[in-house]
Amino acid sequence: MRFDLGAYHDRGMEMTRKTHLETTRAHALEAAEDIGRNPMASPTMGDVINARFARRRVLQGALAVSAISATLGPLALGASRPARAAAPSFGFAELAAGVDERHHVAPGYRAAIVVRWGDPLFADAPEFDPMNQTAAAQLRQFGYNNDFLGYFPLDGSSEHGLLGVNHEYTNEELMFPGVAAQITKEDPLAYATRELVDIEMAAHGGSVVEVVRENGQWRYVRDSPYNRRVTMAEGHTPMELTGPAAGHARMRTGADPEGRTVFGMLNNCAGGQTPWGTWLSAEENIHGYFTGALPEGHAETVAFERYGVPGDWYAWGKFHDRFDISKEPNEPNRFGWVVEIDPYDPQSTPKKRTALGRFKHECATPIVMADGRVALYMGDDERFEYIYKFVTSGRYDPDDRTANLTLLDEGELSVARFNPDGTMEWLPLVHGQGPLTEANGFASQADVVIGARIAADLLGATPMDRPEDVEPNPKTGRIYAMLTNNTRRKAEQVDAANPRADNAFGHIVEMTPPDGDHSAGTYTWEILVQCGDPSIADVGATFSSATTKDGWFGMPDNCAFDGEGRLWVSTDGNSDAGTGRSDGLWAMETEGEARGTSKHFFRCPVGAELCGPVFTADDRSLFLAVQHPSDDTDAWAAFGRLSTFEDPGTRWPDFQDGMPPRPSIVVVTKEDGGTIGS
Ligand code: FEO
Ligand code: CA
Ligand code: CA
Ligand code: CA
Repeated sequence: MRFDLGAYHDRGMEMTRKTHLETTRAHALEAAEDIGRNPMASPTMGDVINARFARRRVLQGALAVSAISATLGPLALGASRPARAAAPSFGFAELAAGVDERHHVAPGYRAAIVVRWGDPLFADAPEFDPMNQTAAAQLRQFGYNNDFLGYFPLDGSSEHGLLGVNHEYTNEELMFPGVAAQITKEDPLAYATRELVDIEMAAHGGSVVEVVRENGQWRYVRDSPYNRRVTMAEGHTPMELTGPAAGHARMRTGADPEGRTVFGMLNNCAGGQTPWGTWLSAEENIHGYFTGALPEGHAETVAFERYGVPGDWYAWGKFHDRFDISKEPNEPNRFGWVVEIDPYDPQSTPKKRTALGRFKHECATPIVMADGRVALYMGDDERFEYIYKFVTSGRYDPDDRTANLTLLDEGELSVARFNPDGTMEWLPLVHGQGPLTEANGFASQADVVIGARIAADLLGATPMDRPEDVEPNPKTGRIYAMLTNNTRRKAEQVDAANPRADNAFGHIVEMTPPDGDHSAGTYTWEILVQCGDPSIADVGATFSSATTKDGWFGMPDNCAFDGEGRLWVSTDGNSDAGTGRSDGLWAMETEGEARGTSKHFFRCPVGAELCGPVFTADDRSLFLAVQHPSDDTDAWAAFGRLSTFEDPGTRWPDFQDGMPPRPSIVVVTKEDGGTIGS
């Protein structure tokens, strides 16, 4: 997708093109190159008709049998479980939707900046100087494009803790002076020098930052002993591969003949937080960092095609051989994992947990079952990809953290197939079972996890409309999958769980395990909401009629549950789609009569997507990650052109001449100090 950088130069400031930021944004899969790579995603027309017919019958049956229908929302197609009780509902005054240079929050709330790209994390870190940035400085400063956020309390406090933050990717033309002008169609990576590439690598990865609330105001603590940067810089942040793929021949490289140690993590998008206080950081669009070509006839050829390697988005391979697959063909296999990091121990070695499979991980969100086993839900964020689950063999022990720290190495990985009758199956990705045999290229469980997508294809998993966050509600045990969009789904490819062709605005699927048993092989499911503007009939949005003109959203991406178990949804792509509204945060009712009602709470400055919503345990603080402010500003009529370092659509959050826009962490509190959203 990086070749679209050329379009930036070529098409100048025209309104029609996708910004090259969009094409380089690892998650922004609207670019022409990204057609989805799943060859299995083509049900027949007969399948579709059967599916829809069966679905309708289930609905009619459910409506016929009882008064259940009176309490189910219009979207409750599954209708196989009892009516839900009303739950605490959102009581805040709604924010007006719109788009401008600033962020906005609902009346009665405050939204303050906590930490920004370039802020010094250590005593010896230089102050941020965007005209003279260096890799050495960036290694000691907060990274770029904050995505996932975890809040890890210190001494159980909701006013003192650690943030674990992913830094997903970099936007060079907003970060570096003069770069936009160097981007040409002939060589979109012409801007790249060794120093700029090394800054990019230092700006990727993650940060651990201590934060504290004093006199009602949050601030980050410079030089906290907990502060840490995890980066992709040369020789930085060794990580241990654990689980079935560790040490396997496909994981070995010249620099690591044992196949057990990787330097750094790539394109970490969302993630999760374990009950034992670790940060799960999910490697997503890892293909974009590799360049070159595999040697003729190389054994990885088919697998790399399925994973989109090489993506050619970055010039790292020019200066660092391991990103050139002609020189180091196994290196891509060492990325695309869920990384577990202990934020409380800055000396700890992050672990890449290969038992959880390798794909374009959006997230890994755990829930503890009654018997102590832990289930994790994961999305593979690309068009026509799958939803996965991992269930640990061992049990979580609140009194034995050391034992918990190896729980994610043993268990069963499975992938979801959605049936049109409102049931779904979890299909085990276990070597030797079903088609996952040597005859099909799976000689061991290592092959299954390294090529999880290919294994899932063979099992007949359901290709979804880009699974982003997939998160269990800790109060109800129901799981919510944010399916952000898929404009490449054709009419003949729709199915019950992905019911719209040309799905520009996405939808949310709700899954229910039987009796809270997350190890079960069969669940039920239904669609919570189809997103988009409900006032345009062709869009097919299904928000409740109580949703206002400000309350609807498109492109659900991340989500969070507050202490009451209420769902909050953050979005990515509304301004790109010309909806006249920024991305932001919406409160989404899932229970009782109000189910399907959404309310606007926070909105980003122009061009930003909203990531990482996370509440403190007391629900009095809500941390948000504002990513890539000033991206996609050509779609904003008030600016009408692409942004550059020199000429950005917004200089959020500093609004100082010469200061570029800075991805930042925001904290929302209530002016009266109360709980959020009530
Ligand atoms: Fe990085 Fe799926 O968003
Ligand atoms: Ca996204
Ligand atoms: Ca993102
Ligand atoms: Ca995302």
